[in-house]
Amino acid sequence: MEQFSFKERIIFALVLCFVETVSGQSFPCVLRETKYGSVCVCNATYCDYLEDPTPVDDHEFVVVSSSKAGLRFDTTHGLFNLFKKHFIFDYDMRVSQAQKQPEFSSDRVNDKRYVHLEINREKHFQKITGFGGSHTGAVTYLTDQLPPTLQDHLYESFYAERGIGFNLMRIPLGGCDFDLSPWAYNEYPENDAELTNFTIDARDELRVAQIRRLIEVSKVKNLRIKGAAWSSPRWMKSNNAWTGFSHLKKEYYETWVNYHIKWIEMMEEQGLPIWAISTGNEPMNGVFFMYFVRFMSLGWTPKNQAIWLNDYLGPAIRNSKYKDLVLFGNDDQRYTYPYWFKMMNSTRENSLDYLDGLAVHWYWDEMVGPSLMDDALKMMPDKILLTTESCIGDKPWQKAAPLLGSWYRGEKYARAYLQDLQHGFNGWIDWNIILDEAGGPNYVNNTVDAPVIANTTDFQEFYKQPMFYTIGHFSKFIPEGSIRIESKRSNVNVDEIAFLRPDGTVCVVIFNSGKANVEVSVVDSEHGSIVLDLPPKSIHTLLYT
Ligand SMILES: *[C@@H]1O[C@H](CO)[C@@H](O)[C@H](O)[C@H]1NC(C)=O
Ligand SMILES: *[C@@H]1O[C@H](CO)[C@@H](O)[C@H](O)[C@H]1NC(C)=O
Ligand SMILES: *[C@@H]1O[C@H](CO)[C@@H](O)[C@H](O)[C@H]1NC(C)=O
Ligand SMILES: *[C@@H]1O[C@H](CO)[C@@H](O)[C@H](O)[C@H]1NC(C)=O
Ligand SMILES: *[C@@H]1O[C@H](CO)[C@@H](O)[C@H](O)[C@H]1NC(C)=O
Repeated sequence: MEQFSFKERIIFALVLCFVETVSGQSFPCVLRETKYGSVCVCNATYCDYLEDPTPVDDHEFVVVSSSKAGLRFDTTHGLFNLFKKHFIFDYDMRVSQAQKQPEFSSDRVNDKRYVHLEINREKHFQKITGFGGSHTGAVTYLTDQLPPTLQDHLYESFYAERGIGFNLMRIPLGGCDFDLSPWAYNEYPENDAELTNFTIDARDELRVAQIRRLIEVSKVKNLRIKGAAWSSPRWMKSNNAWTGFSHLKKEYYETWVNYHIKWIEMMEEQGLPIWAISTGNEPMNGVFFMYFVRFMSLGWTPKNQAIWLNDYLGPAIRNSKYKDLVLFGNDDQRYTYPYWFKMMNSTRENSLDYLDGLAVHWYWDEMVGPSLMDDALKMMPDKILLTTESCIGDKPWQKAAPLLGSWYRGEKYARAYLQDLQHGFNGWIDWNIILDEAGGPNYVNNTVDAPVIANTTDFQEFYKQPMFYTIGHFSKFIPEGSIRIESKRSNVNVDEIAFLRPDGTVCVVIFNSGKANVEVSVVDSEHGSIVLDLPPKSIHTLLYT
């Protein structure tokens, strides 16, 4: 058992006082036990936030912690090279500490593991574009039913600095499966190659109004919106249907480009400039997976997509006033990498030059290792690499609904974010920012989990899932422009990743997925060392200048 000296106890007490004054403006999580763990409850008058905890003094460090037991963005302050050891007390220990002396349960101490972490600021890797979520029709529909102040809490929770600091957003052009019904612009008149009836839809007016409010209340500095189409109007497709085996009719290749440009113009007129588009959501759904996928899709082979990109979309965009629009390719699963792009390149040799980025969906990553992504980056080292869709509950063996409070699902995200960032990814866009208790609405019942779940009994509360916090351990602390730096661990008792931020702060995310405490000795190439004792099943973001 670790004993603090008298001097350490005094300093510890002073640090605790300091914490209290600093966190005066922050609002702790209101933890509620739910079926699968714990969630944080927000209502119209209360929601949890953490003001920027970055230390100002260069002898100081801050650890922000979340755990299965119930820590949610809990902050611990410490000083470099002063304490022998800094304990991150877990939630249950803090509760018992408030009543009596801290207690260390013997099994936790006895099982303790050790890791040595070296942080080298001199060795640089990829630069971060950012993190975000998606504003689907389902999100618009649910958000609209929350009281206005609770809507604001949703926006701030994701996009404000005191929230989890998102700066990216993905929205569908028209509908997607997370909608009440399938839809596209200019569905009528049919066979209208000139798109004479391309107008804003009522569903979009509401989405646009919500996003504008989101920008206003969250004060997000540089929101980057990325669009993707699930399906064209049915009349442009070979099967004249929303789903099933399909391709775009050749005579509408140019119309389909104009459809995208008209959408960008329309959004700009509505005050929402578009940062990027992709060549279309999950093209494989309409050529290979049509027996499983019952929602809106448009099939593309890499060959046809190379022709459309190289002969139509690419030149049209680069010769328009949107020449700086960021173009993403693929927007489908990891297992299509890098084969998809090789096929495109063999069809039209220069087609890949039109792409600024590679968009990949996370769903089958656990089956397919990250080496496919390494190969893709080797082939195209200058492209932005983003995950553009992720959620849990899509697999036949997973519960196709939110598991309220599931730390296990939060951990899945932590593991996945770490892996992608360790393999050169520039950021990550998650799927729906809010869903209902059943994981919808979704017009084909393709229900899944989300980082925030609305209580649709009376729409007076929403719940932040553990996933919200594990995403936040990255998104909140690793802003756009951060550069990954080298970190080396002596063994696999923790997983970690380190960044140097534009403000000069070093940010290290450390994940303890094990059942034992882990003592981590962090050694910074310039600053010296910190020894942290991390509780089981926890994730931490360490910040210092
Ligand atoms: C909202 O949550 C706060 C904090 O838990 C609580 O004090 C308050 O009573 C809640 N308001 C309503 C209307 O339930
Ligand atoms: C234009 O689209 C609207 C629906 O957005 C539809 O009601 C209307 O009939 C269409 N106009 C024509 C001429 O097809
Ligand atoms: C595309 O193919 C050509 C040869 O046909 C090759 O020289 C080039 O490196 C390929 N581009 C990429 C990005 O692999
Ligand atoms: C979705 O589920 C509801 C309720 O179980 C059912 O009534 C509806 O028919 C289902 N819709 C589809 C497209 O499967
Ligand atoms: C949702 O709200 C209803 C009504 O206030 C309440 O009975 C129910 O327990 C809430 N659900 C959760 C998961 O807290």
